[in-house]
Amino acid sequence: MTNRYLCDIDGLTMKKADEFNPFLDKDYRSPFYFCDRENETKILTDFILNKSNITLFAFRRLGKTGLIKHVFYKLQKEKNLVCIYVDIFDTNNKAEFINKLATAIYNAFPKRHSIGKKILSAFRMFRPVISFDELTGAPSVSISATLPEQQNKTIEGLFTFLDQQHIQVVFAIDEFQQILSYPEKNMEAVLRTQVQKLKNTSFIFCGSNQKQMHEIFNSAKRPFFASCSSLSLTYIEKDKYKKFIVKLFKKYHKKIDSESVSFILDWTKRHTFYTQYLCNQLFVKSGEHISIDTVRKVAYDILLLQEGKFYQYRSLLTRTQWNLLKAIGKEGRLKHPNSKDFIFEHNLGSPSIVTRSLDALVKKEIVLYNSNVEKPYYEVYDKFLMRWLQSK
Ligand SMILES: Nc1ncnc2c1ncn2[C@@H]1O[C@H](COP(=O)(O)OP(=O)(O)OP(=O)(O)O)[C@@H](O)[C@H]1O
Ligand SMILES: [Mg+2]
Repeated sequence: MTNRYLCDIDGLTMKKADEFNPFLDKDYRSPFYFCDRENETKILTDFILNKSNITLFAFRRLGKTGLIKHVFYKLQKEKNLVCIYVDIFDTNNKAEFINKLATAIYNAFPKRHSIGKKILSAFRMFRPVISFDELTGAPSVSISATLPEQQNKTIEGLFTFLDQQHIQVVFAIDEFQQILSYPEKNMEAVLRTQVQKLKNTSFIFCGSNQKQMHEIFNSAKRPFFASCSSLSLTYIEKDKYKKFIVKLFKKYHKKIDSESVSFILDWTKRHTFYTQYLCNQLFVKSGEHISIDTVRKVAYDILLLQEGKFYQYRSLLTRTQWNLLKAIGKEGRLKHPNSKDFIFEHNLGSPSIVTRSLDALVKKEIVLYNSNVEKPYYEVYDKFLMRWLQSK
């Protein structure tokens, strides 16, 4: 590497190039490290500025959270909006939802500012307990509201308090479908009632389970029915991702040829996390000139490293599920799971066995079902697992 010290393009820090990997495989940093999503960013931004609500759907690891953080980064910088991100993936009930919400609100305001002080004093009426993570020091808020009525009032209190501050607020509730698993069956109705009342607050309801998100927002019997527009995230366009990869390697004085980049995008199927991860590893393990042989070697090493995990899948599945998974892996994209040819070629028994096993694999989120396209298909979710199955 010719230049060990580089100024980041966003001007944030001077960093040692060999200490920083520009291909993020978690979190968000700044627009320079984020590829495309220009249309989606504009759509979300316009909805938020218009104080409208929107749902955002994408399969796992395609970049939902990254996109939200990207939109928030711009809105905070350019429009001075209060952007609050709440990930409810690990919540199991209404009480845990409240704590997540309260923590996100608490963390969204700098404590030195007047609005931050106001939030703190308003919080006192909920009798919060604030604790700090031993390792990271990150604060978390817990509010003891145990009775259903008390909990509903707390949710109402948290939202309306913010709404009355004469500031524009946007909430992104990530993994929103999680509310379906709460024991309290009125969660959708409670939230819908509150959301409807707010004047200065908008929401992005984000989810990765197509079926469940559909259930919440498209079922005529449910509270959120037809309450907002929806946006589906798909794969980043090939040419844009290609340019992005070449740009980042170049910025750090590495040269990669077009054939190698095409291989990366094809091997990972442009499923964002897997593409980022392969590039991340390639960045670490390559010299100034990246050849296709290096890319293949790094890809192979990734599969080797994850082999233990892949064998665990086998022990968690029935034999028929495993055989079907292998067959889907080998097919790449499977459009007709019940076709005679497919069943015969992979020796899978009968269509009813395939249907049952397929349901189980989709439910376990090992296989994804994409019905958002003209010709729906099944595909192994984890692209590294898919490549490993193909190599067997
Ligand atoms: N447009 C992008 N450009 C570059 N990297 C991206 C982009 N979108 C996402 N990423 C990166 O890809 C990885 C996966 O993205 P992200 O976590 O946003 O996906 P997700 O859909 O929220 O995943 P999950 O379903 O696991 O929550 C992250 O490391 C993120 O930094
Ligand atoms: Mg996410």
